Amino acid sequence: MGYEDARRLQGIFGLVFPFLVAFLVHANHSYNNQVVLLDTTAVLGELGWKTYPLNGWDAITEMDEHNRPIHTYQVCNVMEANQNNWLRTNWIPRDAAQKIFVEMKFTLRDCNSIPWVLGTCKETFNLYYMESDESHGVKFKSSQYNKIDTIAADESFTQMDLGDRILKLNTEVREVGPISRKGFYLAFQDIGACIALVSVRVYYKKCPFTVRNLAIFPDTVPRVDSSSLVEVRGSCVKYAEERDTPKLYCGADGDWLVPLGRCICSIGYEEVDGSCHACRPSFYKAFAGNIKCSKCPPHSFTYSDATSVCQCEKGYFRAEKDPPTMACTKPPSAPRNANVNINETALFLEWSPPSDMGGRKDLTYSVICKKCGSDPSQCELCGGGIRFIPRPTGLTNSSVTVLDFVAHANYTFEIEAMNGVSELSFSPKQFAAITVTTDQEAPSFIGILRKDWASQNSIALSWKEPDYPYEVVLDYEIKYYEKENEELTYSSTKSKAPSVIITGLKPATKYIFHIRLRTTSGYRGYSPKFEFETGDETSDMAAEQGQILVITTAAVGGFTLLVILTLFFLITGRCQWYIKAKLNSEEKRQSHLQNGHLQFPGVKTYVDPDTYEDPSLAVHEFAKEIDPSRIRIERVIGAGEFGEVCSGRLRTPAKREIPVAIKTLKGGYMERQRKDFLKEASIMGQFDHPNIIRLEGVVTKSRPVMIVVEYMENGSLDSFLRKHDGHFTVIQLVGMLRGIASGMKYLSDMGYVHRDLAARNILVNSNLVCKVSDFGLSRIMEDDPEAAYTTTGGKIPIRWTAPEAIAYRKFSSASDAWSYGIVMWEVMSYGERPYWEMCNQDVILSIEEGYRLPAPMGCPASLHQLMLHCWHKERNLRPRFLDIVNFLDKLIRNPSSLHTMVEDILGWCNIPESPGDVPEYPVFVSVTDWLDSIKMGQYATNFLVAGFTSLDLVSRMSIEDIRRTGITLIGHQRRIVSSIQTLRIQIMHIQEKGFHV
Ligand code: ADE
Repeated sequence: MGYEDARRLQGIFGLVFPFLVAFLVHANHSYNNQVVLLDTTAVLGELGWKTYPLNGWDAITEMDEHNRPIHTYQVCNVMEANQNNWLRTNWIPRDAAQKIFVEMKFTLRDCNSIPWVLGTCKETFNLYYMESDESHGVKFKSSQYNKIDTIAADESFTQMDLGDRILKLNTEVREVGPISRKGFYLAFQDIGACIALVSVRVYYKKCPFTVRNLAIFPDTVPRVDSSSLVEVRGSCVKYAEERDTPKLYCGADGDWLVPLGRCICSIGYEEVDGSCHACRPSFYKAFAGNIKCSKCPPHSFTYSDATSVCQCEKGYFRAEKDPPTMACTKPPSAPRNANVNINETALFLEWSPPSDMGGRKDLTYSVICKKCGSDPSQCELCGGGIRFIPRPTGLTNSSVTVLDFVAHANYTFEIEAMNGVSELSFSPKQFAAITVTTDQEAPSFIGILRKDWASQNSIALSWKEPDYPYEVVLDYEIKYYEKENEELTYSSTKSKAPSVIITGLKPATKYIFHIRLRTTSGYRGYSPKFEFETGDETSDMAAEQGQILVITTAAVGGFTLLVILTLFFLITGRCQWYIKAKLNSEEKRQSHLQNGHLQFPGVKTYVDPDTYEDPSLAVHEFAKEIDPSRIRIERVIGAGEFGEVCSGRLRTPAKREIPVAIKTLKGGYMERQRKDFLKEASIMGQFDHPNIIRLEGVVTKSRPVMIVVEYMENGSLDSFLRKHDGHFTVIQLVGMLRGIASGMKYLSDMGYVHRDLAARNILVNSNLVCKVSDFGLSRIMEDDPEAAYTTTGGKIPIRWTAPEAIAYRKFSSASDAWSYGIVMWEVMSYGERPYWEMCNQDVILSIEEGYRLPAPMGCPASLHQLMLHCWHKERNLRPRFLDIVNFLDKLIRNPSSLHTMVEDILGWCNIPESPGDVPEYPVFVSVTDWLDSIKMGQYATNFLVAGFTSLDLVSRMSIEDIRRTGITLIGHQRRIVSSIQTLRIQIMHIQEKGFHV
């Protein structure tokens, strides 16, 4: 076949066009996280790319049915050897890209379908690029170009396909980066294939501008290094303010991850559809926050927008401390029904509260006393001589007692009601007035009060007994108050004798004393004031000595009590020790059983070595003692907390040599360390399962003390995966996960909670079998570099640990299931660090806010769903290890079910499952499916009747909505609420990918 034949072959591509058009139009997705630098399907004029040599690539432009050009470059020199045909794009400015993606659509002819071309016909072409700061025009030197990849077709077509009008269009995407110059060229090298390059799209990824929680996040270009995230601080939308610093992380795929913090609408503004809008006239919002504007409170108004506090109507006020949400109020009306009673020494005033309280509760009364003489119009204020009990102003009860008035006088008392806004009102005061005439002189105590002595806190007074020939003196009442503080408080005491010691006084302080006496006919008037002062520090040594005596007595008594209590606890403690020592190992098993672990018949139960009084007893019950002469140490392979870890050989009793790992306890250890070190062997020795690291035995009778376990050639899972990034099929990865789940099922069946399940604690052998290792409860936390101190003081590997275990140390097989979900994520991302470089505090916060790790790239949707299930906030709703093993087994038996990637999730929403597929882990399609999956299918009709017909609507349901659908059982309400939270996360992840649910 010569040049003409080749041309004829090329012409064959002409047939291809009508099909291509449909394909291209269909395939024209727009992704808002891609910035397109070049799209040949969008170029209207000629592409004008350079071809070298001229008879290599050929430009063919056809029009589609919308009259838009389709630019194709074709080459088909399959008959001639040594082809080297170059096609170079125009210079493409880099824009902000650091890493670019090249998507090529092409068709390729199957060489086998062309006769006589064996040896010359190829089925690949090469993609190159060259960075430059400017366009080089027509200059082209292939040696300046760097190869990106060889591109092969997934599908090549034959003559027959053409006959059947079948088009096999290939789409290949390659990434290049980092790119640092201002732009670049792409070049396509043909080395003898029959290709039609139908379209080229060059783009870079960005996390697109978004508004989350009222914060704006700008377009952000991800880091070239796909394992690190860009932390972006959001800025609040207009009329909003920061509550917690809003943050998002931009991931390598242009997805926004981990929303943290938020903004809230400022005062006077409310949130409507993601932005803050001013409150309308008559409405106000007094506090920043995501609450709605409210109608102005009673007796207030506003005519303007964005009001934070409504204005009070005329005659109404707001006191300084009144919240803006409170109605405006006014002063109270006057008190009613004022009344007075008088006896020989006192006037009792009382009244009823006002009829109108002004809308407030902080009502008080003031009483003004006026002395009027004989002319009622000529009154003057009473002055200091008269006293009010308890006081003349700020009265909260509707009564007051008046003392020390003079006889034969006219008094007028004005009683005013007041509240918190009385001071703000200029209207005339409203009061109730009452007039009274005093007509008797109250006989009073006549005599002199003497101070006998005074200490810092006491004064001793005495007086001469009065001489009342016709009446019997019953007792004396002594009233006293601080001279400086007369208005506030007074105290009184009684004495039958003509002397009293008043205690509880302040040092070096002046006091006023009055005295009155009580006879068979009642109280007499008070004496005039007497003023005395208490003493200072020097005045009462004797009293102090008395105090010392009291303290000494108390201390002796306290010590005696302490001795008695200590003896008591020692005796009861001994009893407990005695009981503990009597427990044999069988009893220990029993007691463990009672500790809440469900025993299956025939399944052994794990025994905590700490229940043994003597740890060496435990280790020899569960581990064989090995004679060190049977061990040959070969190499140091790592360092543990207690000493080196080595690899070596162990001679078995059958004289076979098996590879082993040997953990050693370094010299100079304390007894406590030896105990902790051997504890791991006591635990491991109880297990016998293909996915749990096997204990061969221990060396305790000679030095160094050693633990010998089976050797795992590929070391720990996390570093193994990192070393072999991308090397395994999904089925192989699922196989590893299945092994780990099976080991964990065994442990949980035995009642053992691991607490530190993580890929670093899984070992891998040469057959890729994964085994759970690192046992030792408290010790592991010390050992684990990931363990961090929590606020409660425990050391916990935060990223792997369930929230309830972090918050209140609730470790269980359910918290192990959470950690298992994280291990799944580590495996599917080839050893990526969970939550990347987020700090522990942000991890805890984001989990609390409902964030969960997104699916790693290329992770089947069903596996991510299983992870999300393991990360259920409600621990009882997490899968058991038995469920996990069963589910993974199903996937392994039916690998086609692993083909749906999270990226394809849209397909799940629209395309029904093909019959015979294993049902994927619940990626829910309908409300009924979802309810079934949480075992609440009985409520399907309730949901549908109440109008919750789509998962999107369900994800917005509140607890009120759930109740309204007629679900009355609290347990069911709870289960639905917490499952809605998980559903929200799933929907969020789907929407983050740009899809609609
Ligand atoms: N590192 C710690 N334990 C090991 C084991 N059993 N095999 C290989 N490497 C290890």
